[in-house]
Amino acid sequence: MNTRIHTQHRKQLMRMMGENSIAILPSAPVLLRNRDVEHGFRQDSDFYYLSGFPEPESVIVLAPGRKQGQYILFCRDRDKKKETWDGRRYGPEGAVEHFGADDAFPIADMEDILPGLMENCESVYYTIGLNPEFDKHVMNCVNNLRSKSRGGTHAPYEFVSLDYLLHDMRLFKHRDELRLMRKAAKISVQAHINAMKACRPGLYEYQLEAELMYQFNRNGAGWAYHSIVGGGANSCILHYIENNQALNDGDMVLIDAGAEYQGYAADITRTFPVNGRFNVAQREIYELVLEAQDAAIKKVKPGNHWNDPHEAAVRVLTRGMLELGLLKGNVKSLIKEGTYNKFYMHRTGHWLGMDVHDVGDYKVDGEWRLLEKGMVLTVEPGLYIPAGTRGVKRWWNIGVRIEDDVAVTKDGHDVLSAGLPRSCEEIEAVMAG
Ligand code: GLY
Ligand code: MN
Ligand code: MN
Repeated sequence: MNTRIHTQHRKQLMRMMGENSIAILPSAPVLLRNRDVEHGFRQDSDFYYLSGFPEPESVIVLAPGRKQGQYILFCRDRDKKKETWDGRRYGPEGAVEHFGADDAFPIADMEDILPGLMENCESVYYTIGLNPEFDKHVMNCVNNLRSKSRGGTHAPYEFVSLDYLLHDMRLFKHRDELRLMRKAAKISVQAHINAMKACRPGLYEYQLEAELMYQFNRNGAGWAYHSIVGGGANSCILHYIENNQALNDGDMVLIDAGAEYQGYAADITRTFPVNGRFNVAQREIYELVLEAQDAAIKKVKPGNHWNDPHEAAVRVLTRGMLELGLLKGNVKSLIKEGTYNKFYMHRTGHWLGMDVHDVGDYKVDGEWRLLEKGMVLTVEPGLYIPAGTRGVKRWWNIGVRIEDDVAVTKDGHDVLSAGLPRSCEEIEAVMAG
């Protein structure tokens, strides 16, 4: 098992925490779907980032000052009968052997052991409020220590939000993480290509979704978020996931779908004509969004700030909407007053990583954050013109978004989702092939 990546993350975090501190992080809970059926288990991203450990009912403890070992994992005990019904467990021995834990204990013993680990620590790195059930365990441990203070030990002096450090670390992707993100993107690119090739009038949206899922699953991946497959009017609904309507000749279809591979997400959108040929009205909108995406991607480089790509996209889209007659006025005031919002109501991107809308601050001290090597973001301008919009009937029910995944490099950027057709000509060629 490759634990190198997680070991690095733990070391980095512990360097920042310093001695006399302890970090505590519980795994994700198991969620019920209906009656006794559970949702597929997805490990908490922070937990997985630090451990790679895939099981629920586990807790990571990092104690940088502890002589007997700094990485302690609590997890479920082995249980022959339970494993026969519900699947294998690593158990504490497996946690040490396969995941590099210095010590591992049964989760049932946590409340007995944790106070000893916390004893005389000054700071506890723990994110309160995310898991109220687990908060109680942590508070019990602290109270346990307080009650013993006459013996010369002390309870922690402060709680520090663990996600403050962790999420800033997660914003910068190491080489090994970029490799996984490239793979997630590559699988997703193939999925989109297959959906384009399979598309024809009369199919249902879920049939294109099935093409996507087939590619994800056969490559050892799953979805990073529910796939959006929206034909015609549905392309104008930003988070449309019903995917249950027929795809009609003469309409466009918008697919926003990305794979999750070993914990890392891709997030890609393409919009194309159901019948494989752009008509004039569709092309007008599509090429404007494409131009906006080009302008935005160009702005992804170290030294530019987070909002530069968005501002570039908004400039291109607003100017283009004026030229087409979708908006009236002058570019400057349409931007200043946010009038472009009528057809472009979302931002041009977000951080991408283990979570599709990944962690990391967009502003630092009130200023847009500067882009730096190792950050990964999406660039996803769009235009959405629902039926009923006055005076522009030729574009009714055209919703176009083009979304790619872009890593900031030392001197520019690298499009992780390159290779997926973007221009009208490339899309028509793939769909005809
Ligand atoms: N798939 C969600 C988004 O594009 O942000
Ligand atoms: Mn998306
Ligand atoms: Mn996105």
